[in-house]
Amino acid sequence: MEQHNRTDGPLVHRRALLGLPVAVVCGSALTACGARTTDAATTAERIEPVTPPEDLMREHGVLKRVLLIYREGVRRIDTGGTVPTVELHASAGLIRSFIEEYHERLEEQYVFPPLVAAGKLTDTVTILLQQHQRGRTVTGRILEATGTTPSAQARRALAADLTAFVRMYEPHEAREDTVVFPALREVVSADRFNEMGDIFEAEEHRRFGTAGFAGVVDQVADIEKSLGIYDLAQFTPRA
Ligand SMILES: [Fe+2]
Ligand SMILES: [Fe+2]
Repeated sequence: MEQHNRTDGPLVHRRALLGLPVAVVCGSALTACGARTTDAATTAERIEPVTPPEDLMREHGVLKRVLLIYREGVRRIDTGGTVPTVELHASAGLIRSFIEEYHERLEEQYVFPPLVAAGKLTDTVTILLQQHQRGRTVTGRILEATGTTPSAQARRALAADLTAFVRMYEPHEAREDTVVFPALREVVSADRFNEMGDIFEAEEHRRFGTAGFAGVVDQVADIEKSLGIYDLAQFTPRA
């Protein structure tokens, strides 16, 4: 299982450690653990909790990994191979539950409105909203097409939808990462910015349980393993 820091990361450590005197944390083994715990507490206090943009950007990492799965699906269709319907269906399901019904809802509810209210990036936000809608339509078709073994005609239509989805979401998420999320800092107060971080975390666990983000990443990794594209080293070019 990969390592993630949402539930047991700096935020929780900081809250837990700040509420307890060192003697309670160390119990009776003060001499054995005192210095190390002090170091850990100091480190945890120095590390800020996950900020809203960092949270949204690592969700984009999940999206990017699904786009790589979609590319693999297209490659197999284009080379006449078997359509990996089970993996593609599971991936589209993650796009629906994690990206469309969670990540994009956060953007639509908390990120875009303050930008529009401030008169910033209004044209960009309009396009991003249109793309959210179009993405949901395409995902609906991908879910339907991968729910069964597709015909030759359906294979071509599926490849076209997967390709269109990748083509739209690569620039979409890149624009959000580099332009939209940085601009958010300029239009919301520090208190609101921090409050949004707490709201995002609460919503993540309400929807995805205690495993939260880490559980979703594990699901993506399992799909990658099933397709043989999990091993990172395979993507390193020969020297
Ligand atoms: Fe978006
Ligand atoms: Fe996004």
